[in-house]
Amino acid sequence: MPEQLETLEPLVALSKRRGIIYQSSEIYGGLNSCWDYGPLGVELKRNVKEQWWQDLVTTREDVVGLDASILMHSRVWEASGHVSGFNDPLIDNKESKARYRADHLIEQHIKNLRDNGKSEDADRVAAELEKAINNPDALYEIIINEEIQDPVSGSADWTPVRQFNLMFKTHFGPTEDSGSLVYLRPETAQGIFVNFDNVTSTTRIKLPFGIAQIGKAFRNEVTTGNFIFRSREFEQMELEYFVYPENVEEHFEEWVQARFDWYVSLGIDEKKLRLRPHSEDELAHYAASCSDVEYLFPFGWSELEGIADRGTFDLDQHIEYSGKNLSYFDQPNNTRVVPAVVESSAGVDRTVLTLLTDAYWEDEENNRTVLRLSPKIAPTKVAVFPLFNKQGMPELARRIYEDLHTRFATSYDDGGSIGKRYRRQDEAGTPYCITVDHDSVEDGTVTLRDRDSLEQIRVPAENLAEVLEKRLQTREVKLELE
Ligand code: GAP
Repeated sequence: MPEQLETLEPLVALSKRRGIIYQSSEIYGGLNSCWDYGPLGVELKRNVKEQWWQDLVTTREDVVGLDASILMHSRVWEASGHVSGFNDPLIDNKESKARYRADHLIEQHIKNLRDNGKSEDADRVAAELEKAINNPDALYEIIINEEIQDPVSGSADWTPVRQFNLMFKTHFGPTEDSGSLVYLRPETAQGIFVNFDNVTSTTRIKLPFGIAQIGKAFRNEVTTGNFIFRSREFEQMELEYFVYPENVEEHFEEWVQARFDWYVSLGIDEKKLRLRPHSEDELAHYAASCSDVEYLFPFGWSELEGIADRGTFDLDQHIEYSGKNLSYFDQPNNTRVVPAVVESSAGVDRTVLTLLTDAYWEDEENNRTVLRLSPKIAPTKVAVFPLFNKQGMPELARRIYEDLHTRFATSYDDGGSIGKRYRRQDEAGTPYCITVDHDSVEDGTVTLRDRDSLEQIRVPAENLAEVLEKRLQTREVKLELE
């Protein structure tokens, strides 16, 4: 079985080497926390998004899609609470000029106390932090009273704590005054809420129903890092599922389980996935309950997706701020109702990182690195090689490639030794390789190699498409070594 990665470094290196993910603007020294997906990465990411759309929209009668614009009226973000509440408490060290999240500094201090056996002190500070979480002055007081030092310089000379809004701002049109201020959306969800009336009045969808959207979101995150886990520009896959308010708890439970199962269906190791319900004090301002799907990354258990019971908060806010009636006409009961909503909010990039982390395997026995991606997610399904570039082999290999690539994501590789070509495909996560050799030219059969078991079988070239089709469909999602 694959070993657990101890750090992300080998994965970052493989991602660069194989054209999966590059640092943004690398030739200019890179732009922190922004990433570019290369030729293989973009296919992987598209497969994730297409699978999500397929499972949550295409195959469901009760969900429709939407693609709202990134720039929205700034009142949207006042109504949603993001202008006043989407903040991180920041503190600067006067000596080192380093900037930190005040709550993270305190959390680290609590951990240090615990590691040093001072669990009573740790409990006391943890209780103070819980009360101070939305209060910059109280956070500052803890940092000063506890004599918390800058982890880098050791200095305890701090500025006061300030709230820093995470939304990127820009201006609409030629003037840069406050009237032209717009935000790059920090979540796709609000595009759904503000279109609630448009969707219900232009479709025949009936409660309970969902509106789904995939799109970019932007956050001026203070703490970044861990590769693509937390970036300033990322993509979300969000579903807002509108329900009769009295049924919201039941729908919430259903969605929590369904979303956990979705990650398992992508081939991710179930033992490294868990559900973590939020405690009262962690809940976002809009949520009555929330559960995260978490994955055990090399840097610990971390959130992949949040499923939240948002109640009627968002529609109520937009009703108040826009003055529009966003209730739903419930025909059977001849009454109007403001539906409650269960939100499933997943990160595309975090799903990609999870798939890569989970699939990464250093196969020491065979001296190779493998991405054991599930075939349905793998960027390339099959690669075709001529053993040698002579004696009719390239011509036959090309014909096979031309036939297969209209049906599956197929790559053709005739560069370097056959061993090197296999290694390249193993690192790219390609489940099958086809080699055309001397016998192929004679008898029309080729070798089909399985990425994980390394098993090779001979298959008549004319049967390849059918054999692959079957294998790609029936093969177990989580591949076990034989
Ligand atoms: N509409 C609710 C919402 O946006 P969130 O927990 O702030 O909730 C949902 O974000 C998901 O978006 C997260 O679980 C994560 O997968 C992804 N996400 C959030 N911030 C991110 C960031 N800075 N970089 C990458 N993904 C992020």
